[in-house]
Formats: sequence, C-alpha cells, structure tokens
Amino acid sequence: MKIKKQNIFEKFHFVDEFDSNKLKTSVFKGKILIPHGFSSLLSLIIEVEKYFFNFFNVSINEFVKDNSIILEEKEIIRFQKSIKQSKLLYKKFIIFLKDLNFDIYDTYCDQITIRFSPSIKERGRGLLKPVKPHRDTWASNFQHQINWWIPLHDLSNTNSIFFIPKYFTKKVKNNSKEWNFELFKRGYINTSTPISVQNFNLVDYKTKKINYGSAFCFSGNHIHGSNLGNFRRLNIETRTLCKKDEMKFDLPKNVDNNNLVEQGKWFKSLIDSKFYKSD
Ligand SMILES: [Fe+2]
Repeated sequence: MKIKKQNIFEKFHFVDEFDSNKLKTSVFKGKILIPHGFSSLLSLIIEVEKYFFNFFNVSINEFVKDNSIILEEKEIIRFQKSIKQSKLLYKKFIIFLKDLNFDIYDTYCDQITIRFSPSIKERGRGLLKPVKPHRDTWASNFQHQINWWIPLHDLSNTNSIFFIPKYFTKKVKNNSKEWNFELFKRGYINTSTPISVQNFNLVDYKTKKINYGSAFCFSGNHIHGSNLGNFRRLNIETRTLCKKDEMKFDLPKNVDNNNLVEQGKWFKSLIDSKFYKSD
C-alpha cells in the first residue's frame, strides 16, 4: 500500500476572527504551522532589528551575510539580556497572539530570547548554543507547550531549524532522566535541555526555508534542533502555555520523558505576570 506523503508544514494568513482552536488542534496533532503576512509579527521583528542596529551599529542583514563582522561575546550576552527585559517586545508579541485570537487571560509566556546561531565554521557565541535533537517538553514537562520561532531575516534550507516529525508520537532515547535544570544553572550540565542519544536517519530530518516576516509555530513535543549553514542565523523565540488547553485538546502523550519536574516558573501570565505554577 502506498502511503500518501503528508506535508507537515502548513502556511496560514491573517484573517479577522481567527480560529485559535483550529490552530491549536493542528499544532497538538503535530503540524508545524507558518504564520505569514501578520503586520503584528512584522512589527515585532522590525523592533528587534531597530534594537540590534542601535546596539551594534550594524544591521542584522549585514551581520548575517558577512562572516568577517565579529561581535564580542560579552556584548552579545548584554544584548540578549536586554531583549529578555524588553517590555515593548513582549507587548508586540501579545498583539500577535491577539491576532491569533488567543485568550490572553489564560495565556502564560516564557521570556522572549534572541539566538545567535553561528555559521558552520564558527563557534557559538552568546547565551544560547546550538542544540542536538530534543523535545522542549523533556525540559519543561508541559505537553500543551507551544513554541514560537521567528527568524529575523530570510533563511536558506541549510540554516533553518530542523524537525524530525516521524518521532512526534514515537519514543526516542534521551538523557532526560539525568538532566536537571538546577544542575544546568550551576554549570554541572552543559545543555540547556535534555537531548536525544540516538542516531536518526538522514531522510527523516525535515526543514523548510521560511522568509523574513514568517515564523514556525509548533508543539513543544516535536523533536527539533539547529541546522548550521555557511551563514549565521538570528532568530527570536519563546514558548506559551494556555491553562485551559490541558483539558480542552487532545495533547501529544509523553512517551519518553523521564524528567518529571514541571518548570511552572518559566511561564508568566500575560496579564499579571504570575507564574503558571509556583512550586
Ligand atoms: Fe527547543
């Protein structure tokens, strides 16, 4: 029997009265959604570009296309911290979620971070180093987590992120049993998340070139990681949780996570900054 090849990636556009239930149903089923043509998303990206230019005196486009431009690591870290603290970027992200008709009163969000991914010939600089295939749920322990990954320039096929959708519902060998956030914070573990410890077939890696103005929206249960290419890549990313989603949707099952600590303090209410869970 021939199995019809399903396209895991799905582009969608802005419409009035957007159906967030439809979006979440697709995401929790394993679709990787690509919002496109949202002025709110564009406005967020433009703001990050402005911050970058004002801080480094070089544009993002110049920086990613010219590997001879070297930024000092401590400056990169200082910049990354300023992005995490920006209330304006946070506000702009909320406007984007409103366009998607998310219930803002029920949504909790991690900090917005900017990731500097090196070219294949460089070492990683800054707070977020490229990571091997992993599920975010191995670290956070919330099966209803949604990831938002937003490039700050056009991508190529070789420098996008990759997904291994075949394993969305299948067990993957990983080190989640040994990984612990406290140990990572104290420097005893060097990966910010548990990672897979098995080799995947090359044909199972899926990637998509997306352009400036678009993003990836996907379940935190997807196996994903960084693809490095000849040029650098810059993106912003964050994750969200909506409390009601836990009961309302058919969530991907935890099939292989052995780290059972919920990171409720990574996510704060969009309304009053309260933690998703405080213990
Ligand atoms: Fe991740």
